[in-house]
Amino acid sequence: MKSITQIIKEKPYMGWLLFFATVIIVFLLGLLASSIIERRAEAIYAYKPSKIISQWEPRNDIWGGNFQREYETYLKTADTSFRSMYNGNAQIDMLELDPKLVVLWAGYPFSKDYSQPRGHFYAIDDIRNTLRTEAPMDSKAGKMPNTCWTCKSPDVPRMMNKEGISMFYKGNWASKGHEIVNFIGCADCHDAKTMNLRISRPALIEAFERQGKDITKSTQQEMRSLVCAQCHVEYYFKGDGKYLTFPWDKGTDVDSVESYYDSYDFSDWKHGLSRAPMLKAQHPDFEIFKMGIHGQRGLACADCHMPYRSEGGVKFTDHHIQSPLNNIANTCQVCHRESEETLRNNVYERQKKVSFIRDKAEEFLVRAHVEAKAAWDAGASETEMKPVLTLIRHAQWRWDYTAAGHGNAFHAPLESMKMLSTSMEKSQEARLLLSRILASHGVTKVIDYPDISTKAKAQKYIGLDMEKLIKEKQEFKNKVIPEWIKKAKIREDKYSSEKL
Ligand code: HEC
Ligand code: HEC
Ligand code: HEC
Ligand code: HEC
Repeated sequence: MKSITQIIKEKPYMGWLLFFATVIIVFLLGLLASSIIERRAEAIYAYKPSKIISQWEPRNDIWGGNFQREYETYLKTADTSFRSMYNGNAQIDMLELDPKLVVLWAGYPFSKDYSQPRGHFYAIDDIRNTLRTEAPMDSKAGKMPNTCWTCKSPDVPRMMNKEGISMFYKGNWASKGHEIVNFIGCADCHDAKTMNLRISRPALIEAFERQGKDITKSTQQEMRSLVCAQCHVEYYFKGDGKYLTFPWDKGTDVDSVESYYDSYDFSDWKHGLSRAPMLKAQHPDFEIFKMGIHGQRGLACADCHMPYRSEGGVKFTDHHIQSPLNNIANTCQVCHRESEETLRNNVYERQKKVSFIRDKAEEFLVRAHVEAKAAWDAGASETEMKPVLTLIRHAQWRWDYTAAGHGNAFHAPLESMKMLSTSMEKSQEARLLLSRILASHGVTKVIDYPDISTKAKAQKYIGLDMEKLIKEKQEFKNKVIPEWIKKAKIREDKYSSEKL
C-alpha cells in the first residue's frame, strides 16, 4: 500500500480533496455538537420551574404545572389494565386466590382483607377502604395508629414538619383522616428547590444512622433505590408511641431481622389457633432485591420500574411506576438482547418455581397451627408448647419475608428459595414435636386438614363475622370519608403553596 504523502506527490489534486473532505467533516461535527448542546439547554429550560413550590407541598397537580411529562406519566399509575402471571396493575384479592393465608393470619387484621398492591395513585383510597383499618366512626375510635399513614402520602412529611415526628406517630389512625388526603407523590421523593431526590421519611435516615452510615453520602444511583426504600421495606411500630422503626440493626437478611425481633421479644400478635407469638412481615422489597443478581450488579429500582424515555429530544424519567413486564422494551432490553418473550419467561419461570414451593410451605404452616390448637385442646401445657410455638413463629416469619414482597421471586429467586426451605424445615420440626405432645395426651388420630377451599370458608373457620365487618365498613365509607374529604378541601383552598 502507498502512503498518503506518496499519493499526494503523484496526484496533487488528491491533497486538496482530502483537505476539503476534512473541512466538511469538522463542520458537520460542529453542527451535531451544537444541536446536542441546544437540546440539552432545551431540556434544562423545560424543567425550569414556572412556579415556586413549597418544600412541603403535598398536591401533585401543583408540582405537575412545572413538570408536565413527569406528572402525566405519574398519573398513569391510575391505570389498572395490565395483568402479568402473578402481578399487574390491578388489585388482586389474595385471600380469595389463596385462602390458606386467612388461617396463617388468624387473629390479625390481614385475615379480614389483603390484596396485591396497585399503583401509587390508589394509596389513599386503598388504605381508607381496606377492612384492616376498621370502621372508626369518630376521630377517637379504632385501634390502628397514625403510623399506618406513613407510606401513603406527601401529607406525611408536611404533617411531620408541622407537628414533629414522634407526635405524628402518636394517636389513632382516624384522627388524621382529614389531613392525609393526597396520594404518594412528588414531595415524597423530591426536594422542591433543586428537584434532587430526597429522603422525606425519618425512619430510613434513622436506620442508616444506627448502622453508623450517613445517608446523605449516598450516590445518585443509590438514591434511585433509596427513595423507594422509604416505604418498600420491612418495618415495625416500636413501643407505645408506635414509632416507625426499621429492624436493620443486625442486618437485613431474614435471619438477622428474626434475631433482632427475638432479642426484643417483639411480636405483632398472638395467633388465633396456635397461640404462637407471631411476626408479620411488611414488604421487604428493598432488602431482598439487594440480595439478587441485579442488586449485586448495582442496578437501582428505577432502572426497571422508572425507565428513561425520550420525547421531542427531551430525555426524561417515566414516572409510570409499575411492573416492568408491561414495558420490557424500555426496561430489560436496555441491557439484555433476548426477545421480550424470552425475558418474560425468565421472570415467569423463577416466579413459578418459588410459588410452587411457597404453596407447600403454606400448607405445612396451616397444619402446624391446626395441630397446635389440637394439642392445646388436648391439655398440653405452656412448657410443652413453648419450643413448638417458637418454631412456628420462625417458620411463618421466613415464609412471610418471602411472600410479602411481590417482586421477591424475581428480584432474588435463590434467597427466596432459601427462606422458604428453612420455613418448611421449621414447620415440619414443629409438627414432629406436636405429634409427640398429642400422643402423650392420648391423641393418636391424624388431625384433619380443615376445609378452607374458599376465602369465605376459611374466614368462617377462624371465627370471623365478615357480614358485620363489611356492613360497618360501608357505613364508615358513607359517613366518615366524605367528611374527611370536605374538611381537607376547605383547608387546602385556604393555604397558598408558598406559606406551607
Ligand atoms: C417514588 C419516588 C418518586 C416520585 C413519587 C416522583 N419522582 Fe420524580 N424522579 C424519581 C426518580 C428515581 C427520578 C430519576 C432521577 C435520576 O435518574 O437521577 C426522578 C426524576 C425526576 C425529574 C428529573 C427529570 C427526569 O425526568 O429525569 C423530575 C423533574 C421529576 N422527577 C419530577 C417529578 C414530579 C413532578 C413528581 C410528582 C408528579 C415526581 N417526580 C414524583 C422519583 C420520584
Ligand atoms: C411513600 C411511600 C412509597 C414510596 C416512596 C414508593 N412506594 Fe411504591 N407503593 C407504595 C404503596 C403504599 C403501594 C401500594 C398502593 C396500593 O395498592 O394502593 C405501592 C405500590 C407500588 C408498586 C405496585 C404497582 C402496581 O401497579 O401493582 C410498585 C411496582 C412500586 N410501588 C414500586 C415503587 C418504586 C420502584 C419506588 C421508588 C422509585 C416506590 N414504589 C416508592 C408506597 C411507596
Ligand atoms: C432488574 C429489574 C428490576 C429491578 C432493578 C427491580 N425490580 Fe421490582 N420487579 C421486577 C419484575 C420483573 C417484577 C415482577 C413483575 C410482575 O410479576 O409483573 C417486579 C415486581 C416488583 C413489585 C411488585 C409489582 C406489582 O405489580 O405488584 C414491587 C413492589 C417491586 N418490584 C419493587 C421494586 C423495588 C422497591 C426495587 C428496588 C429495591 C425493585 N423492584 C427493583 C423487576 C425489577
Ligand atoms: C441496567 C441493566 C439491566 C436491566 C435493565 C435488566 N438487567 Fe438483567 N441483568 C443485568 C446484569 C448486569 C446481570 C448479571 C449478569 C452478569 O453479570 O453476567 C443480569 C442478569 C439477568 C438474568 C440472569 C439472572 C440469574 O438468575 O442468574 C436474568 C434472567 C435477567 N437479568 C433478566 C432480566 C429481566 C427479565 C429484566 C427486566 C425486568 C432485566 N434483566 C433488566 C442487567 C440488567
